[in-house]
Amino acid sequence: MACSSDDRDNFVLSGVTPRTGKACMTIDERTDHRLPPVVDLMPPGARLDGERLVIGGQLASELADSFGTPALIIDEVALRARARRYADGLAARWPNSQVVWASKSLPCTAIYRIMGEEGLGIDVAGGGELVMALAGGVDPSRFVLHGNAKTDSELAMALEAGVGTVVIDNLDDVERLERLSSREQGVLIRVIPDVATATHDAIATGHQNSKFGLPIPEARALVERLRGSDRLRLDGLHVHIGSQILDVAPFARAVEAIAALGEFEVYDLGGGLGARYTYDDHPPAIESYLDTLTDAARRFLPASARLLIEPGRSMIAETGVTLYRVVSVKRGARRTFVAVDGGMGDNLEVSLYGQRFEATMADRVGGGENYTVVGRHCESGDQLIESVALRDPAVGDVLAVAVTGAYCLTMANNYNGALRPPIVLVASEGARLALRRETYEDLLDRDIVAPPPS
Ligand code: LLP
Repeated sequence: MACSSDDRDNFVLSGVTPRTGKACMTIDERTDHRLPPVVDLMPPGARLDGERLVIGGQLASELADSFGTPALIIDEVALRARARRYADGLAARWPNSQVVWASKSLPCTAIYRIMGEEGLGIDVAGGGELVMALAGGVDPSRFVLHGNAKTDSELAMALEAGVGTVVIDNLDDVERLERLSSREQGVLIRVIPDVATATHDAIATGHQNSKFGLPIPEARALVERLRGSDRLRLDGLHVHIGSQILDVAPFARAVEAIAALGEFEVYDLGGGLGARYTYDDHPPAIESYLDTLTDAARRFLPASARLLIEPGRSMIAETGVTLYRVVSVKRGARRTFVAVDGGMGDNLEVSLYGQRFEATMADRVGGGENYTVVGRHCESGDQLIESVALRDPAVGDVLAVAVTGAYCLTMANNYNGALRPPIVLVASEGARLALRRETYEDLLDRDIVAPPPS
């Protein structure tokens, strides 16, 4: 059996995985139509042991026992497979290219290391992500620095580290970089293509009013300005039209729009491909997204150009699952609440963007009655899932929420003194902690308590 176009990475090739040569399941072996549909939203390779959910070879409820809850579980095998699928897919279509992981989707040193090992570049937005990417041991010449408000100190850090590419968002970036750099620095200009996308307003960035980048006329003026710079080497252009985009057409329109600025050596086409959060989401397969980008590049960009892409969410979202423990099951006037030991402290996607998630009881997968899953935080907006079928949820049970790999832990917070959750990597060798849970000591650690007045 040849390659499958199915969007489940572990099963793209039958027989052996491309780099490791290890045996992997074929698509036919995996597709079991008797499995409850929620299993299909779990990381590739998820399966049932009886009625119990198994992620990356580990029983989900045992992971919860070992690492506590809430916990973000990332299937490392699935993540590496996805990174390779992106890298191999782009290289096959456009050899002069580089996949640059948008690390804001899950900034954690161990994940930076994994992405570096898979040969990816890293998109870092600011000093914090830069520090973590360096700690992950990735070659800084493969870093792309972003930000619409980069400070002097962040730019100085990036220059000192030897970051390969700085994306210029505004004229102030140019002034700062020229002042701070002591040797030639490669830069791209971020361009607003004026392309609309059907996504949440807060994560749409291709429209004329975006705070990121420069409209075409301003970008054109900056091209001229940079051509006269003795420190900054203008390599090309950058464009990123938004996130959780489920249609490929706007990506092609963005390529066409920036082509109006002339010919360059490098084009960074950003990220934005959506993930499959619900049964009704049908994001384009990575391959069809790459076909769209490279077809547009062949039509509108120079054949010799180097292409970069910056996937974040579509790289990692579907490789993650959050495990919670049920703290209370309470019948309300119109619905029954299942309250868990996390919520908007570890998942702001619901309250910020109205994202729908799916979930299951870890030890009784599929079926059941409809419940509202709520968090432990002090506001009514702290609702994880408005209505989801769960089988007999009871206090102490483990609940698994699917597709939480991207941006959930990124935006985790300490609301109500919540401790930010750990990241657990699961792979065939077992499970390992990649980020420990915060402790109450951590919460107190930054406090400076003034001595009582004497
Ligand atoms: N490149 C740039 C310059 C970006 O700003 C982003 C995301 C990406 C690439 C990656 O986009 P992706 O492939 O992940 O869609 N906080 C929001 C997400 C904001 C995305 C910001 N930029 C959320 O939680 O959904």
